[in-house]
Amino acid sequence: MAILRFLFLFLFLLVTVLTSGAANSTTIPWRTLSGNAPIVIAKGGFSGLFPDSSLTAYKAAVLTSLTDVIFCFDVQLTKDGFGICAPDLLLDNCTDIATAFNGHQKNYPVNGVPVNGYFSVDYTLKDLSNLYLKQVVLSCPFEFDGINSISTVEEIAQEIKSRRFWLNIQHDLFFAQHNLSVRSFVSSVLRRVIIDYISSPEVGFLKSIAARFKKSRTKLIFRFLGTDNPEPSTNQTYATLLKNLTFIKTFTSGILIPKYYIWSTDSNQYLLPHSSVVLDAHRERLEVYASNFENDVPFSYNYSYDPLAESLSYIDNGDFSVDGLVTGFPITPSEAIGCFAHINISSSDSEDAKPVIISHNGASGIYAGSTDLAYQQAVSDGADIIDCSVQMTSDGVPICVNSVDLVDGTTVVQSPFNTRLSSIPEIHGGASGIFTFILTWSEIKSLNPLISNPYLISALKRNPAYATTGIFMMLVDFLTFAKDKPIAGILINIENAAYLAEKQGFSITDSVLDALSQTGYNNQTRLGVMVQSTNISVLSKFKQLTNYKRMYMLDESIGDALNSSLQDNKQYADSVAIKKFSIYPTSKSFMTGSTDLVAKIQSFGLSVYVYLFRNEFMSQAWDFFSDPTVEINSYVQGAGVDGIFTDFPGTARRYRRNACLNMGKQKPDFMKPVEPGSLLQVMTAETLPPIQAPLPILKDSDVDELPLPAVSVSSPRPSAGGGNAPAPTSSTPSGQPRNGAASMITCLAILLLVSLRI
Ligand SMILES: *[C@@H]1O[C@H](CO)[C@@H](O)[C@H](O)[C@H]1NC(C)=O
Ligand SMILES: *[C@@H]1O[C@H](CO)[C@@H](O)[C@H](O)[C@H]1NC(C)=O
Ligand SMILES: *[C@@H]1O[C@H](CO)[C@@H](O)[C@H](O)[C@H]1NC(C)=O
Ligand SMILES: *[C@@H]1O[C@H](CO)[C@@H](O)[C@H](O)[C@H]1NC(C)=O
Ligand SMILES: *[C@@H]1O[C@H](CO)[C@@H](O)[C@H](O)[C@H]1NC(C)=O
Ligand SMILES: *[C@@H]1O[C@H](CO)[C@@H](O)[C@H](O)[C@H]1NC(C)=O
Ligand SMILES: *[C@@H]1O[C@H](CO)[C@@H](O)[C@H](O)[C@H]1NC(C)=O
Ligand SMILES: *[C@@H]1O[C@H](CO)[C@@H](O)[C@H](O)[C@H]1NC(C)=O
Ligand SMILES: *[C@@H]1O[C@H](CO)[C@@H](O)[C@H](O)[C@H]1NC(C)=O
Ligand SMILES: *[C@@H]1O[C@H](CO)[C@@H](O)[C@H](O)[C@H]1NC(C)=O
Repeated sequence: MAILRFLFLFLFLLVTVLTSGAANSTTIPWRTLSGNAPIVIAKGGFSGLFPDSSLTAYKAAVLTSLTDVIFCFDVQLTKDGFGICAPDLLLDNCTDIATAFNGHQKNYPVNGVPVNGYFSVDYTLKDLSNLYLKQVVLSCPFEFDGINSISTVEEIAQEIKSRRFWLNIQHDLFFAQHNLSVRSFVSSVLRRVIIDYISSPEVGFLKSIAARFKKSRTKLIFRFLGTDNPEPSTNQTYATLLKNLTFIKTFTSGILIPKYYIWSTDSNQYLLPHSSVVLDAHRERLEVYASNFENDVPFSYNYSYDPLAESLSYIDNGDFSVDGLVTGFPITPSEAIGCFAHINISSSDSEDAKPVIISHNGASGIYAGSTDLAYQQAVSDGADIIDCSVQMTSDGVPICVNSVDLVDGTTVVQSPFNTRLSSIPEIHGGASGIFTFILTWSEIKSLNPLISNPYLISALKRNPAYATTGIFMMLVDFLTFAKDKPIAGILINIENAAYLAEKQGFSITDSVLDALSQTGYNNQTRLGVMVQSTNISVLSKFKQLTNYKRMYMLDESIGDALNSSLQDNKQYADSVAIKKFSIYPTSKSFMTGSTDLVAKIQSFGLSVYVYLFRNEFMSQAWDFFSDPTVEINSYVQGAGVDGIFTDFPGTARRYRRNACLNMGKQKPDFMKPVEPGSLLQVMTAETLPPIQAPLPILKDSDVDELPLPAVSVSSPRPSAGGGNAPAPTSSTPSGQPRNGAASMITCLAILLLVSLRI
């Protein structure tokens, strides 16, 4: 008995260790030099959002990062020898000096190259005290420009106590030419601040101080710049120096390298296999710190705009881990290290794990939407439910295509069918397009699909090498494809049903019912079927005829809903799909607050699904730090949504597997939902975004209960051009008798209703 008890205890302990392992960095086999978890270095604080080196940026980094986050200061010297925190030797880029000292720019050689601008060495600390810091990178918000003035290293250290520091001194030679000594600055700052790292791209400088730091806590780090740049004190290129790590080791503990030294890309921005630099450096007992991680600039297509995926590839790739990441967005590598590294990707997540993940036209962020490739990717990326947006062809075939307008998801504009442009008041808001019901299935099949590029204007292209790859599917193909996949269900979106029936002579609902029964969905229980529409009449019809789940989709943002309207919805739907902004409204991409809509809808027994989640930072409020995982986490943990629609199911699925979901009070701050409206509190009155008009309220009258109109037999059918197109489904002999009969009865009922109304 005793032994058994002991065994049980032992097993229990083992299980505890195993399950907590992923979150406990001391038990993970990190492939860093020390074996400890890598560190996060916040370059200039949270400089991705706030001005680099500003107090606000540093404070934000404290709130959003691993507790041992390190602050990396770019240090510049003033005329009177003070060390100020600023990202560049030239102050024009990061402060308002060009306004304050207009016309005083100078021309100095920097490492032999003449440079024109406002240099810190020409101004005393007092001169600079009234300047404010501003954003360097154009993609960052400028709303925080001017909230902080320039600070010295000591001032920042005083404000954010008990933090670890890293000083990057980029230009010792330049300062020496201006009779300023970095060495005496460092000595004086060390008397008041504990500095963990000092980095420099100059061999001469590091060698000159190496002896002094031999036994100290401060580690010296050699910073590599562009491979072809000459190192100013040896005149060798950084590429040459990289080949001589034994030499580097004689005066440093580690190296700081741009990330592309490790994972470089080809000319099309696709990742090449990683280099051996981390392993080589570790062999020389040199630590490796990688820099240039930013969430809001284009990075390799292989990461699908998911910066967390990028971080993970540097710390959890099976071969090595860098010892630290230098980033303007410290929250992302903090998540990677604290919660997402070393997750067993083949272990299944718990049944009730949230959110339910519904693809949006398959994994349309990676492949052209609604193609076989997009659906295959959605399944392998872990979507729970894959979706088909059903459209009708002119020969009556229900197919899966993103939009009723082929211009959105195909190369139809470049095809011979580009003359079939039309505009129809009832469709697509009356905008002109080339509509699916104007072309036959075989004509549509002949078109290339086209990947959706919603942020092309910001130069964020999606997977261009595969932009026109993949094939479209008929609804029955989609249903057959889904049947044996490891998913929970399918979602079928039906729109324009009334128009198609009245004006084109198709019952899209009957076509869907036919396809479902033809593929056996009416008598299987493994896969759930969900029908989605913005039109209650469609849902109502499915409610009468089937047991399928029904989702009411609201295509406008709302701020609230009348109880009576939700009570009404409850009659037709099991769930509601609302837009992201209905939960967290924004103004100029800043969150202005939150609504109670999710809880309210749920209190009526309806599940809440939210659309549309995308990885590109342009799709997110600034409050989410340009990190799609932070956004998902906030909607799930903060707003309590049941499920999400996403172009990138892989990002959502990885979120659901992270090791910090059930940590309760232990949950690290960077995995807590963001506080709506907190960024507004940091802004000055001049930069506050405009107050938005309140969002509309969902009222009863918005809920349309009219039955679908009968299919008009007399409507002129557009001529079908396709040769071997299948016969319209209405006459497909394999249609299920049960549904066939049922839909005939509804048709009669509707006819009756319609005639009664007249
Ligand atoms: C991690 O595990 C070690 C050894 O099992 C333990 O001492 C430490 O307290 C754990 N840390 C956390 C954060 O759970
Ligand atoms: C900084 O300013 C210089 C000169 O005005 C300009 O050439 C350079 O592109 C700027 N750098 C950045 C990162 O904006
Ligand atoms: C630096 O000091 C030397 C010697 O005192 C002087 O000749 C030189 O002009 C100074 N350089 C600068 C840039 O102030
Ligand atoms: C550095 O190398 C370049 C090209 O090899 C040469 O022109 C230049 O004179 C060298 N500079 C010094 C300081 O040695
Ligand atoms: C490495 O650099 C040192 C110092 O410059 C030099 O003496 C040595 O020959 C170099 N080794 C190789 C293999 O290039
Ligand atoms: C990146 O994606 C391209 C295109 O899909 C692929 O060929 C390449 O192998 C990927 N690179 C890595 C390192 O996985
Ligand atoms: C990952 O999980 C799967 C399924 O639970 C299991 O078979 C496998 O052994 C696990 N792998 C590791 C490395 O723990
Ligand atoms: C389900 O329906 C399909 C097609 O209608 C039929 O072939 C199949 O035998 C049915 N399966 C069961 C278990 O009834
Ligand atoms: C609306 O419904 C909510 C939740 O069911 C309830 O708390 C609230 O009192 C209702 N409001 C009205 C005006 O009926
Ligand atoms: C919904 O369907 C009904 C009945 O077919 C139709 O009268 C109504 O216009 C549709 N509503 C919308 C918003 O399309």
